[in-house]
Amino acid sequence: MIVRRLELEGFRNYAAAAAEFAPGVNVICGENAQGKTNLLEAVGYLSGARSHRARGDRELIAFDRDQALLRAELEGRGRTFAVEAQLFRGRRRKLSVNGVPLRTAAELSELIHTVLFCPGDLSIIQAGSAERRRFLDQAICQLRPRYAAALAEYHRLQEHKTRILRDWEDKPSLLDLLPEFNDRMARCGAVVVHYRAHFIRRLSERAAAIHAEFAGGREQLSLSYQTVKTVGDPLLPTRDIYPRLLAHQESHRRAELDSRVCLSGPHKDDLLVAIDGRPARQFASQGQTRTAVLSLKLSEREIHREDTGEWPVLLLDDVLSELDQRRRDFVLRRIGGGQVFITCCEEEGLEELEGRTFHIRAGALTAGP
Ligand SMILES: Nc1ncnc2c1ncn2[C@@H]1O[C@H](COP(=O)(O)OP(=O)(O)OP(=O)(O)O)[C@@H](O)[C@H]1O
Ligand SMILES: [Mg+2]
Repeated sequence: MIVRRLELEGFRNYAAAAAEFAPGVNVICGENAQGKTNLLEAVGYLSGARSHRARGDRELIAFDRDQALLRAELEGRGRTFAVEAQLFRGRRRKLSVNGVPLRTAAELSELIHTVLFCPGDLSIIQAGSAERRRFLDQAICQLRPRYAAALAEYHRLQEHKTRILRDWEDKPSLLDLLPEFNDRMARCGAVVVHYRAHFIRRLSERAAAIHAEFAGGREQLSLSYQTVKTVGDPLLPTRDIYPRLLAHQESHRRAELDSRVCLSGPHKDDLLVAIDGRPARQFASQGQTRTAVLSLKLSEREIHREDTGEWPVLLLDDVLSELDQRRRDFVLRRIGGGQVFITCCEEEGLEELEGRTFHIRAGALTAGP
């Protein structure tokens, strides 16, 4: 699925703009603070009706307006789809496809998928494990509804169990509920671990190859999955993971009651990223960090293509800075296939890309030569 056309009204700094995009690479060029990221955000919003950086729809509405409109024409699977999102201040948004109102944003995310790289993603390497879980979760959720369901249920149970652990001293009868919650968490948790393990295995093969190519064969990226200790081999079937999660909970029962927090379960998982055997979080340079995150994202894109037969739309925001010429050339060679939006401040080096160039100035969009 590609974005053929996009119209924006009152969206961020776009009063009114429209553009027809190429099915290949679209270079979005402009100085700082002109609207490049805003445009990528708008394209990203078409998938799942969510922004990667706004906390709510209200932030997306232009400062001086009460509503915003995104209208897009998507093309794929031999059909075209007219997607519309109307955002209001203080009122629920309206989403529709081909004039038919959508009840949930999830219906929109089935239509078009995106893989985004933005500077904030460097935190996948640099920040704590929560960022890496977020990366894994969004990637697997786009591909596997069963995972998304298990994860949502797991979080719901975890919240509930946390309340029990918080309040049990005042209300000891709550403890009677604990075995039931533990059991259900272990069941959902086993599904979560299983999917994460298989995804990381595939990710790791691809990311290692991409990273090596990026770095001219001089660096080796390795990924490994760190989950609940007793699991041993997380690639086991879920029925074998389940009793191992239960065993771990059992051994942490006292500690959970004392600390009043959930200590046991895949909500503490991590994806360990190493370059040449050393943890990237502590030792990677800026360029290496960027290269590693890009390798993860490009791998996610390839897995997506393998599983669905379609390239997700690739959104690359400010990807080229901090990379040396060879790594930049590699990115530009590697993004062939599927639709790509790539922002930059200067066009230098991007002229050879096949596709279309757009210049952005203060929220005005013009198709360039
Ligand atoms: N809701 C809004 N209404 C109006 N303007 C907004 C809104 N939200 C953000 N802006 C403005 O839009 C402008 C462009 O932001 P954007 O993040 O797209 O810049 P950019 O072109 O990506 O710049 P950079 O190269 O620095 O990343 C900024 O000046 C920002 O303040
Ligand atoms: Mg930007």
